Amino acid sequence: MIINIDLSNLKYRYDVYQMFNLFYPFNELVFQKDNWNYKVEVKDDKFIIRDKEESKEFFIEEASKIKEELKKAVYIFLRDKTGKNFPWGTLVGIRPSKIALSLLNEGKSEDEIVDYFYNHHLTNEEKARLCIRVGKIEKRMVNKEQNTISLYIGMPFCPTRCLYCSFASNPIASCKKIVEPYIHSLTHEIEKISKFIREKDLNVETIYFGGGTPTAVNDEQFEYIMKNIYNKFICGNNIKEFTVECGRPDSLTQNKFTTMKKYRVDRISINPQTMNEDTLKLIGRNHTVSDVIEKFKMARELGFNNINMDIIVGLPKERLTQIKNTCKEILSLKPDSLTVHGLSVKRGSKLHENMKEHLQNIDQNELNLMYKETSKLAEDLGMTPYYMYRQKNMIGNMENVGYSLPKMECIYNIQMIEERQTIIAMGADSVTKVVFLDENRLERVPNVKDVIEYNKRADEMVERKTIELNKLY
Ligand SMILES: C[S@@+](CC[C@H](N)C(=O)[O-])C[C@H]1O[C@@H](n2cnc3c(N)ncnc32)[C@H](O)[C@@H]1O
Ligand code: SF4
Repeated sequence: MIINIDLSNLKYRYDVYQMFNLFYPFNELVFQKDNWNYKVEVKDDKFIIRDKEESKEFFIEEASKIKEELKKAVYIFLRDKTGKNFPWGTLVGIRPSKIALSLLNEGKSEDEIVDYFYNHHLTNEEKARLCIRVGKIEKRMVNKEQNTISLYIGMPFCPTRCLYCSFASNPIASCKKIVEPYIHSLTHEIEKISKFIREKDLNVETIYFGGGTPTAVNDEQFEYIMKNIYNKFICGNNIKEFTVECGRPDSLTQNKFTTMKKYRVDRISINPQTMNEDTLKLIGRNHTVSDVIEKFKMARELGFNNINMDIIVGLPKERLTQIKNTCKEILSLKPDSLTVHGLSVKRGSKLHENMKEHLQNIDQNELNLMYKETSKLAEDLGMTPYYMYRQKNMIGNMENVGYSLPKMECIYNIQMIEERQTIIAMGADSVTKVVFLDENRLERVPNVKDVIEYNKRADEMVERKTIELNKLY
C-alpha cells in the first residue's frame, strides 16, 4: 500500500521519512500534495499533524532543535495512531553509544543520561542504560594514539549467498576463475601496505580478516594468504589481536584450523545465525546445526580459546520458540563472545519482497522478548555488552550488540565502531578510514566492490589510500 504524505516544507523530508519508515517499513512512502493520508505542516512556532480523522498540534520549544522536535511529534502522532512503540524511540543513528560516551565525558550522571535519551529521542531506559554500559567500556579501550592503527583484510567469497546478506559475498562455485587472481591482487596490496607501515613506523594494534568468508577458499589458498598476512604484519610485531571471521562452518576444515593456529590467530568466529535446521535451509546457508557443533568442538580441541558466535534475531519464520532453541544450543557450547544482530532488510530487496508477510506480522512485543532472550543468554554465559551499532532498516528498529566474557572483547570491533583509530583496509569492497585525531575528522577511502575490477586495479587502490594516509603520516 502507498502512503502519501503532504509535507509543507520538503527541507524536513528525510527526518519525516525516517519516522514514517519506522512505522510503515513495508509501505511505499510518497511525498505529494494530492490524496494525502497524512499531512505534516511546519509553522514558525508549531507543527500540525493530521490524518483523515484527527489533527494534533505540537509546539516548538527550541527552534535550534527543530528537526529533533519534528521527529518526536511525528513519532508520537504515529505511535498513538498505530499503537506501535519502539524501544529506541526516534533514534535511528548508527552509533547511539557515542551519545552516552560524550555525555559521560561532560560529567553527566547515569540518571541524567537516561533522562536525556528519553527527552530528546523517547528512548526507553533499558536501551539508554545499554548505551551507558557500552560507552564506559569504549571509553576505556578506545584508541588515543594517532600512530596506532588496525588492519582489515577482506575475502569477498562465500560457500553460498545467504538470503539476507548485503555484504560482498560471491558464491565461490560460480566464480572459481577469479579466486586465484583475487588472491594474487590481495597479496600485492598486502605487500605494498606492509611496506608503507614499515616506512612510517606505524604500530598495528589489531588485524581483522573478514568478508564474505575468509575460509571459503580451499586449504592451499587459505594457507598461502595466511602465510602472507603473518609474514608481512605479524611476525616480529607486537599485535594485540588477530581475528579470522571463519563464519561458515561448511567452509572449515581441520587443515584451516591448523593453519590459523600456526599463524597465531587469537580469535575466530563460528557463526550459526540460528540453531534451527528449517531456518538454515530457508536462508540458504548450506550447513546444519550439527556442523556448527562439530566445528565448534574441533576448534576447542585444537586450542582456540576465544571463539565468537553471531546470531540474528528476526530471521524469516522465526519467533520466540525458535530463538529460545538457538539460545539453549549456544548456552551448551559456551562461546567466549556472542554477537546478536537484528535482521536488517533493505527496501526493494528480494527478502523484502518475499518475506513481507512474515516480517510485517512480527509483533514488536514478541520481538522485544526475542531480544530479551538473547541478553539473558549472554548473562547466563557470564558475558556483558561491550559494543553496539545499528543499521538502517532493522526489523523493529533494534540494534546489534556484541557481548563477551571479561577480557575477551574484540578490540577491533570497538575501534571500528568508535572511529577513533585509522583502519587500513585491503581487498575488494573494503573501506579504509583515515582518522585525523587532532582535527576530529575522518576520511573514507573505499576499494572497488567488484572482484574483477579489483583484480585489474589493485595498484590504484593502494595509491588512493596512500595519498590520504600521507596527509596524516
Ligand atoms: C560480514 S558478515 C560475515 C560473516 C560470515 N560470512 C557468516 O555469515 O558467518 C557478519 C555478520 O553480519 C550479520 N549479517 C549479515 N547480513 C545481515 C542482515 N541483513 N541483517 C542482520 N545481520 C546480518 C551476520 O550475523 C553475519 O555473521
Ligand atoms: S556467509 Fe556471511 S558474508 Fe557470506 S552471504 Fe552469508 S552472511 Fe553474507
